Amino acid sequence: MTATWGDGTRSVRAGDHPAVPGAPLRPSPVFAAPFHLGDQPPRTGGADAYARTEHPTLRDFEAAVGDLDGGQCLSFATGMAALAAVVMACADAGDRVLLPADGYYATRLLAAEELTRFGVEVSYVATPDVGELAAGGGLDGVRLVLLETPSNPQLDVCDIAAVARAARAAGAVVAVDNTTATPLGQRPLELGAHLTVASDTKALTGHSDLLLGHVSTSDDALFARLKSWRDRSGGTPGPFEAWLGHRSMSTLDLRLARQGANAAAVAEVLAASPAVRGVRWPWRAGDPSFALAQRQMLRPNGVVSAELADEAAVTRFLAASRLWTAATSFGGVHSTADRRAQWGGDAVPPGFVRFSCGIEDTEDLVADLSAALSAALG
Ligand SMILES: Cc1ncc(COP(=O)(O)O)c(C=O)c1O
Repeated sequence: MTATWGDGTRSVRAGDHPAVPGAPLRPSPVFAAPFHLGDQPPRTGGADAYARTEHPTLRDFEAAVGDLDGGQCLSFATGMAALAAVVMACADAGDRVLLPADGYYATRLLAAEELTRFGVEVSYVATPDVGELAAGGGLDGVRLVLLETPSNPQLDVCDIAAVARAARAAGAVVAVDNTTATPLGQRPLELGAHLTVASDTKALTGHSDLLLGHVSTSDDALFARLKSWRDRSGGTPGPFEAWLGHRSMSTLDLRLARQGANAAAVAEVLAASPAVRGVRWPWRAGDPSFALAQRQMLRPNGVVSAELADEAAVTRFLAASRLWTAATSFGGVHSTADRRAQWGGDAVPPGFVRFSCGIEDTEDLVADLSAALSAALG
């Protein structure tokens, strides 16, 4: 792919093959588990043999995502399968792993309930504090550092390049959960991370109808280690998911543009409402994440967080709204609102809501938000 192409071109053209007269613009999914072997040894000349290790539709999708990340991509059935690959394949018994204390809660559960069973020591640090920890030598003896920036759901950011420098000096592997940012919004590999990992269930595919995840790297040894993990553990996406993921990401640039514009307007309405406090959006001037997000990130996305008075206020808000659908996850074309405390994993107040701005018209979304916030006041 041409390095100078813009985000729209890259979203559409990533992973494309040279055009063939009479062929579809993008190959259709190849539905196969085993492939004919013929009379040659398996994999002769790169021929496909069994789809758990690789298959043609997945190769195209991985080429596309890897193009956007600037590395070699391995796709997984879900974001958690990708994160499990990172923490399980990159740490051994006796190693210490550093995780975000304020990131996606299932990653902490994975570490606490599974990783520690294998003798891996897990420490936690909040995203705003990881830079200071790294600068003060706090990564000495750490094998793997996982960052999540912006963190979900509180949208704090940390300096990937600074942490990666310190981590590399300490001999640690640095992985960044880039789910909220997307590969168009932030390029962790260029900032010095070894691995960028994401839930592609979110904005990358963006239609709330798919589960996918991936890891990309430009380190051949890490790629081989992760590929071996996936081959053995079997979290490989099938052809329909891979094809639909590839098709969906073609519109990533367009969706992010509308979601970002909606988020900018939504953050202002939230901030002006007496029903709300603590609005967070890293691209809003005055946000604690603003300066670093401006420096480190390439473009905004549609995730905004804020606090309503309590659970009852959120219930009134959702009942009054026609466009803010109660749903978890984020990054989809529908606008959604998720009261995070109901899941029990995040240290947030009962009225804390993660708003995911979809691609509806800004004026409709803002009008609906204003009316529903008035209802939230009771
Ligand atoms: C930041 C982050 N990472 C990883 C995941 C896990 O992704 P999945 O649900 O696709 O397994 C999520 C899901 O919400 C997430 O928000």
